[in-house]
Amino acid sequence: MGTVTAADLRTLLHAAADHAAAHLEADVDAPVRAPRTPAEMVEAFAGPLPDQPTEAAAVLDELVAVASPGITRTTSARFFGFVVGGSLPAALAADWMTAAWDNNAGLSEPTPAVAAAEQVAGEWLKDILGLPATASFALVTGCQMAHVTALAAARHVVLARIGWDAERDGLVGAPPVRVLAGAERHVTIDRALRLLGLGTARLEPIAVDARGAMRPDALAAALRDGADGPAIVCAQAGNVNTGAVDPLAPIIDLVHAHGAWAHVDGAFGLWAAAAPARRALLDGVERADSWATDAHKWLNVPYDCGIAVVAHPDAHRAAMTATAAYLVQHAGGPREPVDWTPEFSRRARGLAVWAALRSLGRAGVAELVERTCACAERFALALDGEAGVEVLAQGLNQVLVRATAGDRATDALVAALQEDGTCYPTPTTWRGGRCMRISVSNWQTTADDVDRSLAAIRAGLAR
Ligand SMILES: Cc1ncc(COP(=O)(O)O)c(C=O)c1O
Repeated sequence: MGTVTAADLRTLLHAAADHAAAHLEADVDAPVRAPRTPAEMVEAFAGPLPDQPTEAAAVLDELVAVASPGITRTTSARFFGFVVGGSLPAALAADWMTAAWDNNAGLSEPTPAVAAAEQVAGEWLKDILGLPATASFALVTGCQMAHVTALAAARHVVLARIGWDAERDGLVGAPPVRVLAGAERHVTIDRALRLLGLGTARLEPIAVDARGAMRPDALAAALRDGADGPAIVCAQAGNVNTGAVDPLAPIIDLVHAHGAWAHVDGAFGLWAAAAPARRALLDGVERADSWATDAHKWLNVPYDCGIAVVAHPDAHRAAMTATAAYLVQHAGGPREPVDWTPEFSRRARGLAVWAALRSLGRAGVAELVERTCACAERFALALDGEAGVEVLAQGLNQVLVRATAGDRATDALVAALQEDGTCYPTPTTWRGGRCMRISVSNWQTTADDVDRSLAAIRAGLAR
């Protein structure tokens, strides 16, 4: 491959910036859904591995031309699928710098700036989420791996208490560990149990209330009636369908009275703690033993970035640390990311988190959470009075709706809305029935976006 001059590189990066800006500018009015199907995109990208090099500028143009028709505008203010969030400008720019610097954020010694930004970002995260300043943290790929990280620390502690060393001896022959979680827990809890060797078969689902929040009385009965011994309870702040938050204070009290570990899945819901008016919903959350959440959802940091926080740093470190003779780690020295994460080499995610929090500040995060919750409430209020639909639940930034004509009509409505392109809700099944989920997670969404989307929903219902 020929030499790339500094001028060529600058031209290339400017071209990438122009493509990116053009894409984001078009978010305002372009249809949210990608025009092409997954199969069409495979066809568009397909082709033999090239034998010869191609100039980077040509590769960039080709990439943008081929990919663009298959890019759904998840950065749009009217993308309401899953719980996605867009990218705050400062976080997006920091993410570009992350790629340009390309530092491996495993250790502080060769890459001091990225380790330091991560350390400060972690302190800020605990502060804004109202979690103990003494807790340890890790930035990982997403809430899935945050569960794995935090529950590995839980596994360490509950087994160490009865004299079993989980890291050294594994789980073959280990005493059984009870895991209890709400019947409407997120699927990533189950997968974390699979990955940690705890298994899903012994998971004890605890009954939930009408909104999908764990019932403390059912948990109390399960803890009382089940076997004594090591136990972990996974509570939830933010049901993915209803937005419901488990009653954390009584749950955590029960768990601790039983000598068990309390973990909170707060993938998005934990961010309610950053909005003073919503904070009471999470009463008691700071007393848990571990928490898992995301920066790539409600904080609007680019993918990927999950956050594990553990109230017992020694256990967290024991579960995760790794070292090798060729690494530079100073005892008593600065925080080393590799001590807290399941990854070895890793992206410097702390830069984008730092930039997001630096740009919004405490007030900006509170406003973002508050505004998106208010948008969800606006949806619910308007749809509640609408013929042909029923609002099943609304909590935090989530709205759960169904067509009164039934499952097929609900699926048809979601499909029609995605096809129309004004907004992009996603379908789900809740309690046996098909529903439409509206998750307001984007930093840009306003009441005007809600009203434009409501008009599209009304048009969809009229068809
Ligand atoms: C409650 C809850 N937990 C966990 C997850 C998984 O998060 P991630 O996709 O970042 O792994 C989600 C994703 O929507 C969620 O809503």
